[in-house]
Amino acid sequence: MAKKPLRFGIIGLGLMGREFGSAAARWCHFLNLDFEPVITGICDTNVALHDWFTDNFDTIKIKTTHYHELLASSDVDVIYCAVPHHLHAQMYIDILNAGKHLLGEKPFGIDLAANEQILAAIAQHPDLVVACSSEFPFFPAAQRIIAAINEGRFGTIIEASCGLLHSSDLDPTKKINWKRMIEFNGEYGCLGDLGMHALHVPLRSGWMPTRVMASLQNIVRERPNDKGEIVPCETWDNATLICEVDNEHGQFPLTIQTYRIAPSETNTWYLRVLGTKFSIEYSSKYPKTLRFMEYKPGGEQAWQTVDLGYKSAYSTITGGIFEFGFSDGLLQMWAAFCDELANGRAGMQQPFYCATPAETHQQHRILTAALASHQQKTMISL
Ligand SMILES: NC(=O)c1ccc[n+]([C@@H]2O[C@H](COP(=O)([O-])OP(=O)(O)OC[C@H]3O[C@@H](n4cnc5c(N)ncnc54)[C@H](O)[C@@H]3O)[C@@H](O)[C@H]2O)c1
Repeated sequence: MAKKPLRFGIIGLGLMGREFGSAAARWCHFLNLDFEPVITGICDTNVALHDWFTDNFDTIKIKTTHYHELLASSDVDVIYCAVPHHLHAQMYIDILNAGKHLLGEKPFGIDLAANEQILAAIAQHPDLVVACSSEFPFFPAAQRIIAAINEGRFGTIIEASCGLLHSSDLDPTKKINWKRMIEFNGEYGCLGDLGMHALHVPLRSGWMPTRVMASLQNIVRERPNDKGEIVPCETWDNATLICEVDNEHGQFPLTIQTYRIAPSETNTWYLRVLGTKFSIEYSSKYPKTLRFMEYKPGGEQAWQTVDLGYKSAYSTITGGIFEFGFSDGLLQMWAAFCDELANGRAGMQQPFYCATPAETHQQHRILTAALASHQQKTMISL
């Protein structure tokens, strides 16, 4: 099948830039897609990172340390931008003004004001496809939870909880990097890094909280820098948000945890929804395992456990009996973004599209309220 090439430039060739490179290189994994990303341009101020791309991709026509050169290139139609948060607003706006489509990284602006500047630029360019990276909803179990929400199976929702948990910051000897500096990462700290992952499915489900109460912790307050000097580490390590979501039955609590210090957890994403008729839960800690419970009045209350195989939104060569993991989630997310780019949202092969700019704005409103709640020791209305 002839595939429509989508000519990508990447700005930021670090952890996530390379993950996208790897996803693009693995496009043959898909069955039945009539489009494919082709990496034609790369940009990073750190030239040492260029080599991995040029060694592995013979489609690159432009490599640069100045992103404006990438934006000026007629060989690039769409940009994946994965840079520190303080650069999001300026770069995303410049990308849009250059007429390039954009998959940006979360939190989509270092703070609410930056996010609103980006949204204003998007409004000026309604012809461009713009989305925010968020891969966990593409896990098979997450897709099953989303289907249950869409089918309204829960009866009255009793509570929902979601989060993303890391543990590597438990090590006080871990060196400080930009993600642990307010100047580059923002006042949100762990909330800006992890919040969109937790919030994507609740927001897509229409569960925008009306009230937010937050407890934030800075647990490791000093870290060594590259020179071995001990310097202040001022970002929030852990955040717990108790939110209230209003719905047709009244309201239910939505609890969100974004932890960089959750002992033993390595990128654990979870979502649990309890209802009077149906409950369901998934944690990527047990990547195959989905648990759910049907309840009929007077009946037994018994959880069922099912090991899900590789049942992805976009079909692939992998047999259904095998497991699904982080890089598979990213690959599926990239397929959804490229599908929207190639065919428009209405023409997508499957209905779940990437996180939208409007959802990033909702995220920022929640995170900003969380900062205010913690500071004022009160619940904030949205
Ligand atoms: N979706 C996810 O699961 C996920 C995971 C981690 C990070 N992220 C997000 O991805 C983004 C990048 O994070 P990362 O972990 O890849 O960081 P990183 O530090 O590994 O990479 C960022 C890159 O940006 C480059 N850079 C800095 N200034 C630049 C400039 N002016 N021009 C060009 N390049 C420049 C740096 O040299 C670096 O290579 C952040 O927004 C982060 O929140 C997303």
